Amino acid sequence: MEADLPSARLDAAVLPRHVAIIMDGNGRWARQRGQPRVFGHRRGAEAVRRAVTAAAEIGIGYLTLFAFSSENWRRPAEEVGELMGLLRVYLRKEIAELHRNDVRLRVIGNRQKLPADVVSLIDGAEAQTKDNTGLTFTIALSYGAHEEITEAARALALEVAAGRLSADAITPEMLAGKLFTAYMPDPDLIIRTSGEQRLSNFMLWQAAYAEFLFLDIHWPDFDRSHLEHAVGEFQRRDRRYGAVAG
Ligand code: IPE
Ligand code: IPE
Ligand code: MG
Repeated sequence: MEADLPSARLDAAVLPRHVAIIMDGNGRWARQRGQPRVFGHRRGAEAVRRAVTAAAEIGIGYLTLFAFSSENWRRPAEEVGELMGLLRVYLRKEIAELHRNDVRLRVIGNRQKLPADVVSLIDGAEAQTKDNTGLTFTIALSYGAHEEITEAARALALEVAAGRLSADAITPEMLAGKLFTAYMPDPDLIIRTSGEQRLSNFMLWQAAYAEFLFLDIHWPDFDRSHLEHAVGEFQRRDRRYGAVAG
């Protein structure tokens, strides 16, 4: 993708309600500059700020950023520690600004694996911003769709075992209602940077009818022009949901 994209003409009537981004390529971005991976993660945090501001200004209702997967725990302890450190800094520094901008912050994923102080920062940030009515900004952290769907199935199984629910009565909506994402619509548009074209265990259930856009830039270079380009591309797609084109 070219860096100097023409500013996209966006149709406010057909904005995606929910845009999700798989933020990938921090390590390669740093390596191309002869720097350690953490340098890419630091610059990636600045791209997060740009993405949140741009999403709010464009008028997107829900922005979800995939920050750390359940599989990313396999990375060297040093890198995991640096990512948690950046997250602490982000939560401490950005919450006041997010709150001022009427952003509601949510974090989805397996909290049991997160350091206790990070969990308290998340709890505090969610509590502080819970009544905000602007952009809902979700960070997927220690998140994996297989774990999420398994937990949802387990929750329904427990209700069946307790005699509160009949197995025959289980519907897709009930399962969706047990997912971390129950409070928001499914993503309309999923963007992945870095050139990789895979989901890496992200929102497997919720992505059923998402439009996909794979960008050949690394995450630290992401800015408003890329989001506008992506939304413009989304607006040119014909979503049929299995039916015949209208
Ligand atoms: C994305 O960049 C950030 C995380 C997954 C935490 P990467 O760290 O995956 O960077 P690459 O893909 O190795 O370049
Ligand atoms: C996906 O990126 C996870 C996040 C962006 C948080 P990875 O870099 O972990 O994915 P793979 O390993 O290339 O599939
Ligand atoms: Mg990667």
